[in-house]
Amino acid sequence: MTRPRLDPHKTYRFAAALLAGFGLALLSGCKLAQVFSLSGHQSTVHVDGPVAQSQQNLFMVTVYVCTFIFVVVGAVLAYAQIKFRAKSESDEHAEPPPQGHGNPFVEIGLIAASVALLVVIAIPTLQGIWYTHDVPEEELKNGPAIEVTATGYQWWFKFEYPSEMVKLPAGGEAPLVTGNELVVPAGMPVRVQLRTVDVIHSFWIPKLAGKVDMMPNRGNFLWFKADKPGYYYGQCAEYCGESHAIMRFRVIALSARDYTLWLENQKQPARVANAEAIAAAASAPRVQFASLKMAPGEALSASPQFDADPLGAWREMQKPEAGEDAALIATGRKLFQEKTCISCHTVRGHEGIGITGPDLTRVGARSTIAAGVLENTRERMHEWIKNPNHYKPGNKMFNGGYTDVETRQSKFTLNDGEIDALVAYLHSLK
Ligand code: CUA
Repeated sequence: MTRPRLDPHKTYRFAAALLAGFGLALLSGCKLAQVFSLSGHQSTVHVDGPVAQSQQNLFMVTVYVCTFIFVVVGAVLAYAQIKFRAKSESDEHAEPPPQGHGNPFVEIGLIAASVALLVVIAIPTLQGIWYTHDVPEEELKNGPAIEVTATGYQWWFKFEYPSEMVKLPAGGEAPLVTGNELVVPAGMPVRVQLRTVDVIHSFWIPKLAGKVDMMPNRGNFLWFKADKPGYYYGQCAEYCGESHAIMRFRVIALSARDYTLWLENQKQPARVANAEAIAAAASAPRVQFASLKMAPGEALSASPQFDADPLGAWREMQKPEAGEDAALIATGRKLFQEKTCISCHTVRGHEGIGITGPDLTRVGARSTIAAGVLENTRERMHEWIKNPNHYKPGNKMFNGGYTDVETRQSKFTLNDGEIDALVAYLHSLK
C-alpha cells in the first residue's frame, strides 16, 4: 500500500476552480466588499423586516448546528487519522485493530445525538413556519394589515390595492392598480395575495421576505413588514421563461404620512399636462413629500444616483419635471392611441383601457421601467420603447404589440420624434 501523494494536476485544478468561483463572484456585479460582508441590494443576511429576520435566524441556527457537527466529526476523524496512522513499514501490513462496530453505547449515543440536533433545528423551523404563515396578532394592534394583490405576468408584476378604491372615469370603482413598484407604509404589516395569469412565478424581496410561488389556480399569500422607510429590491425567483432573470420589482416603504400623500395622488385620474397645469406645477408641485426640498423651477437631474440614495431618487420622481411641453405631451397622448398602446395599457382618466400590460396611470412617477430593469429616465424610456425586445427578450409589448407573432411583420413604425413625444407623455403621468 502506498500513501496518497499530492497530485500536482489535482492541486492545479483545485486552485483553478477556486479562482473561477472568485471570478464569478466578481463578474456577478457584486462589489468586493459586498461579497465578503454579504451585504448588497438583495442580501438575505442584512435584513430590514421581521419576516426576513425570522428566516435569517433559522438559517443561522442551521449554520451553528452544522458547524458543530463539522467540528466534532472532523476532530474525531483527524484524531483517528493521526493516532492510528501507519508509522513503519510493518504497520502498513499489520492486521486492523479490534473494531468498534456494534458497540451499543456508541450506536445509541450517535442516534440520540442526531435526534437531539434535529430537534434543535425543528423547534425554530416550526416556530418560523407559524410566524411567517400569516400576520401574527401582535402586529395587528395598530390596525389591520395593508392588503395587496400581486399578480405575475411574463415578465412583470401587477400590484393591486383592493381596499383602496378609485373612481373610474366611466363610472363605478375599481381597486388602485400599479406596476412593478409596490409602495407600502413602513412599520405596518402587509399581506400580499399571490396570483399569476400565466406560468409559475415566485415573489421574493430578499431583505423583507421570501420566497413564495405564484401558482396558476392556487391562492398563495405571504406577509412582510419593512422596519423603516427604504428602497428594496425584489425579483421573480422561479424560472418562468426567457426573461425570468430580468423579471424584477421594487418595494418602496414610506412613512405613514408620505404613504397617505402617495395614495391621494395615485387615486387621481391621470394628470393632464396642459400649459396652465405645467405653470401651476412649477410653483406648487402636486405632491410634496416630507423630505423633498424643491425650489420653484428647480431642474431635476437626468440620472439620479440610485445606489447612493435610491429612496431619495424615487421621491424625486414624484414631482412633475421641469420643462414639460404641453404640445409634445398632447402629441404623445395622441400617438399612444394611434400606435395601439391603449389596447394593452390603462391610463385611468385618459384613453388607455388595456389590461395586458402594466397600468401606466402614474408611470412617470416610478423610479424604474421594464419591471425594474431600467432607471426611468427619459433616455432610458426612449431606448425601451424603441427596442423593448432588446431589454426584455420575448416580451409581449414587442411580440404581439409591435409585431404580429405569426408573420413577424411590424404592425406600425415609430420614429425617434414620435418616441420623444410618447416619452414626454408617459413622463407627464405623475
Ligand atoms: Cu417570473 Cu421567473
